[in-house]
Formats: sequence, C-alpha cells, structure tokens
Amino acid sequence: MRDYSIALIPGDGIGVDVIREGRKVLEAVCEIDGGLKFDYTEFDWSCEHYARHGKMMPDDGLERLRGFDSIYLGAVGYPGVPDHVSLWGLLLPIRRAFRQYINIRPVKLLRGIRSPLAGRSAEDLDFIVIRENNEGEYSSMGGRMYEGTPLDMAIQNSVFTRTGVERVLRYAFRLAQANGKRNRLTSATKSNGINHTMPFWDEYVGRITAEYPGVEVSNVHIDALCAFFVTKPDTFDVVVASNLFGDILTDLGAAIVGGLGIAPSANINPEKEFPSMFEPVHGSAPDIAGKGIANPIAAIWCVSMMLEHLGEAEAAKAVLEAVQDVLEEGQVLTPDLGGKASTRDVGDHICRKLRLAAK
Ligand code: NAD
Ligand code: IPM
Ligand code: MN
Repeated sequence: MRDYSIALIPGDGIGVDVIREGRKVLEAVCEIDGGLKFDYTEFDWSCEHYARHGKMMPDDGLERLRGFDSIYLGAVGYPGVPDHVSLWGLLLPIRRAFRQYINIRPVKLLRGIRSPLAGRSAEDLDFIVIRENNEGEYSSMGGRMYEGTPLDMAIQNSVFTRTGVERVLRYAFRLAQANGKRNRLTSATKSNGINHTMPFWDEYVGRITAEYPGVEVSNVHIDALCAFFVTKPDTFDVVVASNLFGDILTDLGAAIVGGLGIAPSANINPEKEFPSMFEPVHGSAPDIAGKGIANPIAAIWCVSMMLEHLGEAEAAKAVLEAVQDVLEEGQVLTPDLGGKASTRDVGDHICRKLRLAAK
C-alpha cells in the first residue's frame, strides 16, 4: 500500500470550498487505484482561529506539520485581520520553516481554455515560472519610525543571500536544461532601478550561466517582462524570479491562460527533508466567498502537482486529464469561466470523468 499523510489547511474564504473538492478528487483517485491511500488530518488554522485564539495557528503548529508527507492549503487572509498579520502568522512561516524555497507556477493553456490573448493556442502558452519563495523582498526586517509626526516613515529591507539566490537559480537552470522545450531561461530583474539586490541577483545569474552551457539566458527587466507575457508569451520556457516579482508575474501568468480560478502552485522543498505544500495561486476571494461559485480547478490541479511530487505520476496525469475533459466539454463550469455551475458541481464532474476514464 502506498500510504501518504496529508495535512489539510483549508484556511479562509473560498479556500474551504476548493479544498473540499480537491480532497474529493483525491478520494476518487484512491477508489480507482486500490494500492493508493491518503490519511487526512484537518487543521482549522485561519482568520477565524485568530478571532478565537489571537493567533493564526497554535505555538506548536509548525511542529505538528513537520511529519506529514504533504500540506494541502486553500487560502489565508480575510477582512477583519490585517493581511500582514494573517499571512505572517501562517502561510509564510510554513514556506520558510520547511525550506520550500522553490515555488513552481505553471503558465500553461489547458485543453478547453481559450486564452484572452487573441490568436494564441496551447503551443504558444506553455512555460513555467520558478519563484524564489523564502527570502527577497518578503522580509520582516525594517520598521516604522516617527509615527504620528510629519516625519512618519516605513523602511522595508530586502534580503538576498548567496545561498538563497544560487539554489533557486540552479533549480531553474536545471529545469530549463532538462524539461525546457527551448532550453531557455529568462531571469526577471530590475537592476536599472534597484541598485543593490538586483545587480547581486544578475551577478549570480551570470556566474551560474557558465555551469549550464546549453541554456540560453536572457535578463529582462520586470516591467518589460510583464509586457512580453502579453505580447510574446511563446518565447518563454522557464522564467526565474525573486519572491515579489514572481508573485506579480504569476497572477499575470494566470490571467493569460484563463484566470486565477485555474492557476496552481507548488511550494517545494527539493531535498524532501520537510513536507512540500500545494496551494492555488489565488487567495480567499472575499468577493465570492460563501456563494459556492469559486472555481475549484486551481486547487484540483494542485492535487495533480502533489501526486507528481509524491511519485504518483500516473494518478497526477489522470487528474489533469479529467480536468481538461471537463473544460473541453464546457458544460459544467463556474462563472469565472462563463458557466453557471457551482464549486461542488465542478468537483463532482471531475470525479465522474476520472472514474469514466479508469473504466
Ligand atoms: P484573490 O486571489 O483572493 O481574488 C482576486 C480576484 O480573483 C477576485 O475577484 C476573486 O473573486 C477572483 N478569484 C480568485 N480565486 C478564484 C476562484 N477560485 N474562482 C473564481 N474566482 C476567483 O486576491 P485578493 O482579493 O487580492 O486577496 C484576498 C485575500 O486572500 C487577501 O487576504 C490576500 O492576502 C489573500 N491571499 C492569500 C493567498 C494565499 O493564501 N495563498 C494568495 C493570494 C491572496
Ligand atoms: C501568493 C500570495 C502570497 C504571496 C501572499 C498572500 C502573501 O499572493 O501565494 O501568491 O505573495 O506569496
Ligand atoms: Mn500572489
């Protein structure tokens, strides 16, 4: 029996709805493959938990997650708790404590989805963003000074370390070499305006380029890169970016392949010393929370990425095929994709397609 332990953290808003569907899909996968088993432990850590206990998770929260094979998370953050408090109280500590320094965010047009970019098809929209996930612009260094006076100010330090930069760059180079269609790596920079961290990043890109002679590298300023995501997405293969740049690029990346409702992400600890975490790119979507219309596909694609990471390649593929069967059929879609179906309808229909394909 291949038995995996999964920590479920549905979190806030639509996170709860989409994780329910993702779990349903995992259960269908196990029904089909009798040799596969998942044990779930659910944690109610969220903004509601904060309202009750004054913290997003208990003091030993990270300790409790340590032994799981994977973490499956919905979304964190909801009006009522300041975002920096909720995120620094739950999501960001998990990424850091478990050295999930690689954030994989595919930008891939699925079968059945039409890109909002005119004339673009699946061959044009198929690349991967590797986002640095542990340091960079996301830092707790800095502070507020002179509050309440005319000199009121805030300083936020970015932290780029040799270790942090080298490991994410090497991961991206390897990916461009091994899996890339075009052996091309694009590095997001801004060394024209940010005059310490970005030249440092570029310098390491230059040094590491020498280790991967087959990879064609380009350094592109983040502002231009945003434009190129729209005007020439077909030229990308692997894009590597710092924490903040990768964050912004991947909401744009989601938009060009069908929207936030279907964009997945994997927070990976490549050494497998700790659990990796799978979560949609989107957040808790307070504007549609409680309406039962959130698209669960991003979360379900995350299930596929989790299966892949656990070494269950066949099941991973089956899940993504079932998703695409549903998209292509076009009958059961949530409103973000132009349909009228509910979150549950879409989850159920994907399970149905999975079972059908297995027969
Ligand atoms: P958001 O991603 O929650 O929503 C942006 C827009 O996309 C909204 O209009 C929303 O309705 C839509 N959308 C998102 N997911 C969707 C889905 N599955 N189906 C259909 N429509 C969907 O971003 P936001 O509004 O900036 O953030 C809301 C909260 O979520 C904030 O507290 C933010 O900090 C948090 N957040 C958390 C995560 C995370 O935990 N990984 C990620 C992003 C934002
Ligand atoms: C994401 C989110 C988070 C991030 C926020 C909620 C801290 O936007 O995962 O894309 O910026 O990493
Ligand atoms: Mn984001």
